[in-house]
Amino acid sequence: MKLKIALLPGDGIGPEVTQQAVKVLNAIAEKYHHTFEYVTASIGAIAIEKYGEPLPDETLKICVEADAILLGTIADLKYDNNPNAKIRPEQGILKLRKSLGLFANIRPLTTYNSLLHKSNLKEEVIKGIDFVIYRELTGGSYFGEKNLSDDGNSASDNCIYTAEEIDRIAHLAFKAAQARRKKLTLVDKANVLETSRLWRKRVLEIAKEYPTIKLEFLFVDNAAKQLILNPKQFDVILTENMFGDILSDEASVISGAIGLLTSASIGKHAALFEPVHGSYPVAKGKNIANPLASVLSAAMLLEHFYLFEEAEDIKNAVEKSINLNISTPDLNATNHFSTTSVGNFLSDFILDEENTFYNKNNIDLGQSTII
Ligand code: IPM
Ligand code: MN
Repeated sequence: MKLKIALLPGDGIGPEVTQQAVKVLNAIAEKYHHTFEYVTASIGAIAIEKYGEPLPDETLKICVEADAILLGTIADLKYDNNPNAKIRPEQGILKLRKSLGLFANIRPLTTYNSLLHKSNLKEEVIKGIDFVIYRELTGGSYFGEKNLSDDGNSASDNCIYTAEEIDRIAHLAFKAAQARRKKLTLVDKANVLETSRLWRKRVLEIAKEYPTIKLEFLFVDNAAKQLILNPKQFDVILTENMFGDILSDEASVISGAIGLLTSASIGKHAALFEPVHGSYPVAKGKNIANPLASVLSAAMLLEHFYLFEEAEDIKNAVEKSINLNISTPDLNATNHFSTTSVGNFLSDFILDEENTFYNKNNIDLGQSTII
């Protein structure tokens, strides 16, 4: 298969981790005789510095022309706590989502047995978690009309949804549930919000087309509790933009492995893949950031193009690296490996599993040639 991939490394540790994802994709390309062509472009704070805007036209053009987008991370401390900043790195990703119509953000959540102890929750609560969040990404208060009164004393963000916006993501979520454990939970605030009541009506209507799916409703405040109390009850969670933002970040820390979580943002004609973690500015350039989430987002990219065996290879390599403790300091405090060494191990393992595995003794001694 031939794929044109837009690479947007972005800010902070973005470039370092994305580089490992590319390394791993190249190993897959070599092993399975695919051709992956990369075009790199700027987004976020780095784009503001270079071009004065967080999503330059050239970047958007590259993304439109690509089959898929691999994003690093966006954000810079410089802008985080300044409410007066007119131009912000995050505007780049918001504009990209809107321009490409990336209406569904998909975040799968699973656990790795060897990392359960890293979670703040009890092992028995999280062991075996397996759910996916479908967050609507181009509507709601994020994109509704915004106002600040002339005297600066009142402000509003209009939360607006159309039936069409709800329907298209609801269908995706129901289909995902069909392929999984057949349960869908709509999270809303229908006891208060008119938009939530529209979500319920539409989802109830659409549910008729998916009779095998068990549909449940949860108010968002209760959902926030349930994610901590009993996350295993969830299979597919469907929700609007802002609730999805908050819940998916809450969900990202329950497994104890935020450095491994990925997300896909899907539209009719475009697809973007990125790690869930942030830009981790203090680690920038130190070769210590965990590349696994970025690498796994490359696996998600491959799945999007039905390259399931290839994606499985990446996941196996990742799991092997964790089991062998070939990990960055966040996972392996005492005898850790660098970002690039982890990337090297993964690509070596994909290309030559036998020999990489055979070298395990050397790896344990820190003498492997892959370091
Ligand atoms: C996310 C982020 C973004 C969002 C920010 C960077 C605008 O938090 O992807 O979840 O709120 O959607
Ligand atoms: Mn978020």
